[in-house]
Amino acid sequence: MRIGILTGGGDCPGLNAVIRASVIKGITAYKDELIGFTDGWKGMLEGTSVTLDVERCRDILPMGGTIIGSSRTNPFSHQDGPGRVAATFAARDLDAVIAIGGEDTLGVAARLADSVGLQVVGVPKTIDNDIAGTEVTFGFNTAVQTATDAIDRLRTTAESHHRVIVCEVMGRNAGWIAIHSGIAGGAAEILVPEEPFDIGEICERIERRHSRGLFSSVIVIAEGAVPLENDDDVASADHGASRRGSGEPAATDQFGHERLGGISNFLAEQIELRTGIESRVTILGHVQRGGTPTAFDRVLATRFGVEAIEACHDGDFKTMVALQAGKIVRLPIATALSAPKTADLSLIHDVAAAFLG
Ligand code: F6P
Repeated sequence: MRIGILTGGGDCPGLNAVIRASVIKGITAYKDELIGFTDGWKGMLEGTSVTLDVERCRDILPMGGTIIGSSRTNPFSHQDGPGRVAATFAARDLDAVIAIGGEDTLGVAARLADSVGLQVVGVPKTIDNDIAGTEVTFGFNTAVQTATDAIDRLRTTAESHHRVIVCEVMGRNAGWIAIHSGIAGGAAEILVPEEPFDIGEICERIERRHSRGLFSSVIVIAEGAVPLENDDDVASADHGASRRGSGEPAATDQFGHERLGGISNFLAEQIELRTGIESRVTILGHVQRGGTPTAFDRVLATRFGVEAIEACHDGDFKTMVALQAGKIVRLPIATALSAPKTADLSLIHDVAAAFLG
């Protein structure tokens, strides 16, 4: 078979491990020809590609990022985008495309399958871990480890200076990274998008910590967390402005997603104002997306890459690979698009609660 591969959306550790697995499995088991389309769906729109062979994939297993590039290009927001993707598929004499991406990339894959009959297999990825149908996405484990390492470091400097440090992690509208890194790092507070936070209550808990002799606190907050607008200070504040840095409207990508980041500034300001305790902010940002994948993510990504090739050879299109009960399965891509997988709040209420505050 001639199989195209693309990586779309925000990158994450483990993408190269999927590419390597699909390429080596395809070539050695089936004598496939593999073509990497560059920068996600943009490569299929514009017909830009690179050849992927065993030699090219030899050393990429531990490498972060993606050797074929990524972008948030949405063919459906381009003039005759779906037709151009179909034309590339035909011109390159392809039999299948493996689309590695999050909700947006997989959503495009499903729409292209419906609109132009694209023969596509999806591989879910994201550090956010918010894709339905799979227990976990690769990239998440690495991001949590990176955030946990950072929290460990922030704790020692917070202790030295008797400060509050608000550590902001990624995750878009899901609190998975915040919850896991917050538990692993022993955070005093874990704030997630799924549950608006009450600044007054947080300040009371920090003051109570102080009265117990705990003069420092690390607060882990997800970038998508929002405050309860239960008092005038919060209701009148434009907390989005602190992340935008101005009164400008928030930037959005081709899928209409607002760029997040910066809510920690607002929270730290409020804590300092209300408690008088010196507060600082660390926004981890893209540090969480870069670098070498953990062993867990390398294994999961490899299993996904191998299964994606099997799905292509079975003609099992418009499906995606997923992890369920420890096994790799195939599901309709629609499963991933039903609703984002929000974080398990019982991890805060039943597990972390004993250690918070
Ligand atoms: O979806 C992955 C993610 O890293 C989110 O956690 C974050 O909000 C977003 O991508 C950042 O995107 P970009 O790299 O385009 O700024």
